[in-house]
Amino acid sequence: KLAQIGVTGLAVMGGNLARNLARHGHTVAVHNRTAARTRALIGEFGHEGTFLPAETPKDFVASLERPRRIVVMVKAGGPTDAVIDEFSPLLEPGDVIIDGGNAHFEDTRRREERLRSRGIHFVGTGISGGEEGALHGPSIMPGGSAESYRSLGPLLEDIAAKAPDGTPCCTHIGPDGAGHFVKMVHNGIEYADMQLIAEAYHLLRHIAGYEPARIAEVFDIWNTGRLDSYLIEITAEVLAHTDPDTGAPFVDVVQDRAEQKGTGRWTVQSALDLGVPVSGIAEAVFARALSGHVELRAAAASLPGPRRTPLDPRDAARFAEQVEQALYASKVVSYTQGFHQMQAAGQAYGWDLDLGAIAAIWRGGCIIRAAFLDRIRAAYAANPAAPGLLADPEFAREVGEAQSAWRTVVADAARDGVPTPGFSAALAYYDALRAERLPASLTQAQRDYFGAHTYRRTDREGAFHTRWGGDRTEQRTD
Ligand code: 6PG
Repeated sequence: KLAQIGVTGLAVMGGNLARNLARHGHTVAVHNRTAARTRALIGEFGHEGTFLPAETPKDFVASLERPRRIVVMVKAGGPTDAVIDEFSPLLEPGDVIIDGGNAHFEDTRRREERLRSRGIHFVGTGISGGEEGALHGPSIMPGGSAESYRSLGPLLEDIAAKAPDGTPCCTHIGPDGAGHFVKMVHNGIEYADMQLIAEAYHLLRHIAGYEPARIAEVFDIWNTGRLDSYLIEITAEVLAHTDPDTGAPFVDVVQDRAEQKGTGRWTVQSALDLGVPVSGIAEAVFARALSGHVELRAAAASLPGPRRTPLDPRDAARFAEQVEQALYASKVVSYTQGFHQMQAAGQAYGWDLDLGAIAAIWRGGCIIRAAFLDRIRAAYAANPAAPGLLADPEFAREVGEAQSAWRTVVADAARDGVPTPGFSAALAYYDALRAERLPASLTQAQRDYFGAHTYRRTDREGAFHTRWGGDRTEQRTD
């Protein structure tokens, strides 16, 4: 009997994905560079389904039905290229290589193009949900050709998470690197969500004066409302956890230096190239970077700041409600920015992305899964060409209702010296978008002054330059 699909690279993610496929009744070929790992997987989990272990790439390929479907679950970068180079000579036109790692979408575009010239489908696939998701149902974002999805889609949809309405959290995202691009933006939004939640915690701790266990309770309550999401849920669990060694709140024994593997940074780099303001995601990336600059922080530790007076319990409770509003409004802004980036990339790369479908497959399985995403799905279903989420009447109403509390929170944070780069950037974005006039007019005038870069007028067509260094007469330049 031949396998319907194979997985090479059996570290935890790859191993769990292979098990998920086998548990769904598929025959799965498994391979790993070091065969001991393959044997360990079979030894421990072989009873869960039908696995065909292979020790060499040749045996692995020979154990697959045609067209062959090979999931590559190795480290992004060099290791992925090495696996492709090793396997592709053994494959035939029509076969499919699925790269399930967090590859950069430009690498995926390059690999897809190269393999396409040989008739091999290369499907860069975003997979979100961590180790548990891979085993029990991740959110899956496959790119590559539409043809490849016809043979691959049913398998992937079978093992994907199911949204609350039962639909699989997997859809064909678009050609070449679209899947990895969308996964990258997912991660950028994940960074922003995490940063906003961290700021909410920080405000509740230092302005409301709540202890972590109390904040956990607040988050548990928020998790029953519009903020209902996996990240809020796990945050409450983390905050309620006590370090067994010291008896201190666990959050207090963890070093306050946030690391990153790079997908958030990639999101911001891409947004800079596309000219899309993703300030919420950028602030989240920078906040992690800042936290790691220990020497700068130590040098600044004695700089003056305001004296804080703790709020009385009634005011603290009111403040907590305002933080919920600020968090929600800021979250709407960071999704607005991330979806704008996907829309712009869709146009730039010719992907024709279905933003509503993307929101729909993020409703389950992935790290940013949340009730909220069904609202985004509905907003794009109602108006697929909506110029941003804030153009949706429902989101506009909610953010409008939250804006006063949002301002109070950002102002209180500034007054009390609690850094809120995420909340503040989101509010600035909101105010900039709704402003009737922006000071960009002054920026243009400055550019014209020192560089004769020209400007456009509000009252006439054309490009103009003022002779700033001379008689200040204006000339039309186009
Ligand atoms: C997911 C996660 C996953 C991983 C990120 C974390 O969707 O399952 O996003 O891809 O946890 O790599 O990224 P950082 O290490 O950069 O925080």
